[in-house]
Amino acid sequence: MSLLQTTRDLQKALQVSPAESLDSDVAATLAPRLREVLNAHGHQYYVLDDPIIADAEYDVLISYLRVIETRFPGLATTDSPTLRVGAAPIERFEKFRHAEPLLSLGNAFTLDDVRQWYDRCQRSLSETYGDVQPAVTAELKIDGLALALTYVDGLLTVGATRGDGVVGEAITENVRTIPSVPLRIPVSTDESPPARLEVRGEAYIRKSDFEQLNERLASANQKVFSNPRNSAAGSLRQLDPAAAASRPLSFLAYSVGPSSERIAETQHERLKWLRTMGFAVSAHAEVFDDLEGVLGYCTAWTERREELNHEIDGVVLKIDRIDYQESLGSVSNAPRWAVAFKFPARESTTTLLDIIVNVGRTGMIKPEAVLEPVEIGGVTVSQATLHNEDYVVSRDIRIGDTVLVKRAGDVIPQVVGPVTGARAGLETLWKMPRSCPACSTELVRLPDEADYYCVSSECPAQFIRLLEHFASRGAMDIEGMGSKLAATLAQTGLVQHLSDIYRLEAAQLLMLDGFARKKAERLLAGIHASKRNGLARLLFALGIRHVGKTTAETLVPHFATIDDLSRATIEDLCAIDGIGDVIAESVVDWFRVDTNQTLIGDLKELGVNTARLDEEKTASAGRWSGLTFVLTGTLDTMTREEAKTLIVRGGGKVSGSVSRNTNYLVAGREPGSKVDRAIKLDVPVLKEPEWLRMLNEHVAAADPEDH
Ligand code: IVH
Repeated sequence: MSLLQTTRDLQKALQVSPAESLDSDVAATLAPRLREVLNAHGHQYYVLDDPIIADAEYDVLISYLRVIETRFPGLATTDSPTLRVGAAPIERFEKFRHAEPLLSLGNAFTLDDVRQWYDRCQRSLSETYGDVQPAVTAELKIDGLALALTYVDGLLTVGATRGDGVVGEAITENVRTIPSVPLRIPVSTDESPPARLEVRGEAYIRKSDFEQLNERLASANQKVFSNPRNSAAGSLRQLDPAAAASRPLSFLAYSVGPSSERIAETQHERLKWLRTMGFAVSAHAEVFDDLEGVLGYCTAWTERREELNHEIDGVVLKIDRIDYQESLGSVSNAPRWAVAFKFPARESTTTLLDIIVNVGRTGMIKPEAVLEPVEIGGVTVSQATLHNEDYVVSRDIRIGDTVLVKRAGDVIPQVVGPVTGARAGLETLWKMPRSCPACSTELVRLPDEADYYCVSSECPAQFIRLLEHFASRGAMDIEGMGSKLAATLAQTGLVQHLSDIYRLEAAQLLMLDGFARKKAERLLAGIHASKRNGLARLLFALGIRHVGKTTAETLVPHFATIDDLSRATIEDLCAIDGIGDVIAESVVDWFRVDTNQTLIGDLKELGVNTARLDEEKTASAGRWSGLTFVLTGTLDTMTREEAKTLIVRGGGKVSGSVSRNTNYLVAGREPGSKVDRAIKLDVPVLKEPEWLRMLNEHVAAADPEDH
């Protein structure tokens, strides 16, 4: 019978007999049925990511079981999903001696190291098997904590940490709170489990869960964790299982330890078997018949690691055949048949020399770390963002601290937090300045916002940023006018208003350091050429809050000239697909300011084009125009509404249901039946990482302040 049918039958049975008035016989028959059904639904939800009943239905069932177990304590068992919320606190963890040591892995830092490892395996195997080309299973190296789970007759009996590999700690009560760890196996099949089985895998916290956890800790004035790995470690070692239960831990299985039966003949079949038993297994493991494929996997994941919702610090390569593994054996504490290809580290510690604040083009003030230069992943880092005042204060970051610095992909380096153990006592607390470092205007922090703003319209620092932005590639694209020249032009007073750019003369430029005739002429030619830019570029260049490149391109087809746009009302603007009230208000406010009207007048007089070009007439040149998207499930990185706005801004359409006309289904977590329909109709399904990649390609040229 299907799980859904079993559930419906059970729900009917419960309706006729309230838990509070059950007699013990009926309770004794209902309890195991409830446990089985609830565990199966937990598996659907946390392992398969595919719930088939509503959360509220699950809640009703588990409350019922809880009442039974409270009224008849004799009926409580250790595989009860009621234990997921955490058993009673314990005094300390018992030591646990592993039946076989949990080995560690040798490292390969380069592709050449991987080649050498494979050659060694091949040579050693040739002694027994002759010339073979052993297949390799490649897996992601999840950055969490190793756990060994012991199942006796299918029942989870011990969950232990790795410890020193020989002796770990039994943290069974905490392990039971991890929703993706099955309490009894197999889940929803009839296969019989081995009498004794050890499953090894990694406990970890997803990036999105980690961020939420830190937000929660920060708002409760508790110490935040510096990275997901530390938060997973801290959570698992809570003596109060209820506290562990409140931490969003996940588990991925990657191998089997000593067991009463031999499980499969290859590593990749073991992974499959673990999945059928009900364990979550990484979806990204692959088997390769040759070394080229393995090396490709290593390279690909070095670049793709950012797509995942959990941290990985490398990939693990394992000779696939178990008999080959046995033949290769181990040296000291690492197997010869496996190796970890480690990614270049993207974290390092260094000294925080100072904290300065930077004024952005919109007046936003951001604290920035001045660091003792340090190399991270091949790049020298000497500055890093500290986001805002709350960030510095909640992490207790002090000037002089040794700090952990992280550089993730293309993202700006950030200070993760202080290494408090390295403090000498001479570190000093930093205070957010009360006034703008450039113009001394008192800073303003809006309610519910973390950022401070300099609201002066005369602030020289803001003007330099605006000038920089105006001339930048995506905006007016004035060749030769980078951030250094922008600062010089503003500081010498040659450019006091944006329109002054178009009043510059060669004689003035020649007075500046480093300017000869040739260079001056080139710059003037660049300035002159920018006068013929389209309206969208100009709109974006003006630096109107919330008007990024895409928004500018969305607006332009609706207005023939900038004057037409300046007469638009909030209602006019909101009527445009992709323009919401925040943008609309910002545009209307901008045109209301007298100096902005003067600026437009001056630009026109100086010959800058303020009308729409012919090619800008047709609907936004959005890359997605003509495409229809459907959204389903929960996205971790944005709300559905936000995703919708992005699609519409890119010229695409969003529809409520999947049909033959759908071009893409964007499927988050718990996607439901739309995915089945999409597959049936051959509509491509984008999981969150693919969707993010598509989005990144689309907005790569957009302005970071465009939101
Ligand atoms: S296999 C003998 N596979 O990496 C094989 N380990 O140094 C040893 N890890 O702390 C483990 N992901 O917990 C293996 N897919 C994976 C892994 C993995 C993460 C961790 C493991 C251990 C460390 C090995």
